[in-house]
Amino acid sequence: MYKTKIDLSEKVRRNVIAILNDRLADAIDLQGQVKQAHWNVKGPNFIALHELFDKLSDAVLDEIDTIAKRVTSLGGNAEGTVAVAAKRSKLKNYPLSITAGRDHLFYLSTQLSVFGKAVRSAIDDTAKLGDAGTADLFTGVSRELDKYLWFLEAHLQDKG
Ligand SMILES: [Fe+2]
Repeated sequence: MYKTKIDLSEKVRRNVIAILNDRLADAIDLQGQVKQAHWNVKGPNFIALHELFDKLSDAVLDEIDTIAKRVTSLGGNAEGTVAVAAKRSKLKNYPLSITAGRDHLFYLSTQLSVFGKAVRSAIDDTAKLGDAGTADLFTGVSRELDKYLWFLEAHLQDKG
């Protein structure tokens, strides 16, 4: 922890940083999984899904950057290597052999909902700790995840 003149106690900052680093690991894992889908998807909707998954990857990359910079803003060390993310991420491993668009949409939407649930908890947890700034950050991340979950699920909802 670094000294800072920010008006949040070291105890609050320490607790908030732990939450941020946990969600950072999930986000880094998720971004790799989205690229996996971007590269390997096949089928009649190839180009639409290939491009949608790339947009989602860019959105998750933005979130990774935002979360990591909040850690350092609070005087912590962002723990954002792939090796740490692999150990700490709460997401299940992505299946390596799937190709069909519907399969990628199913798995990616599942991963997004798992990460989305953890982020929603982080909103409440950081608000309770008294850090409205981080709660707001997670609220923005949550809203973006909800939007992309819709983008993915809309492909699967044609049969009601
Ligand atoms: Fe690409």
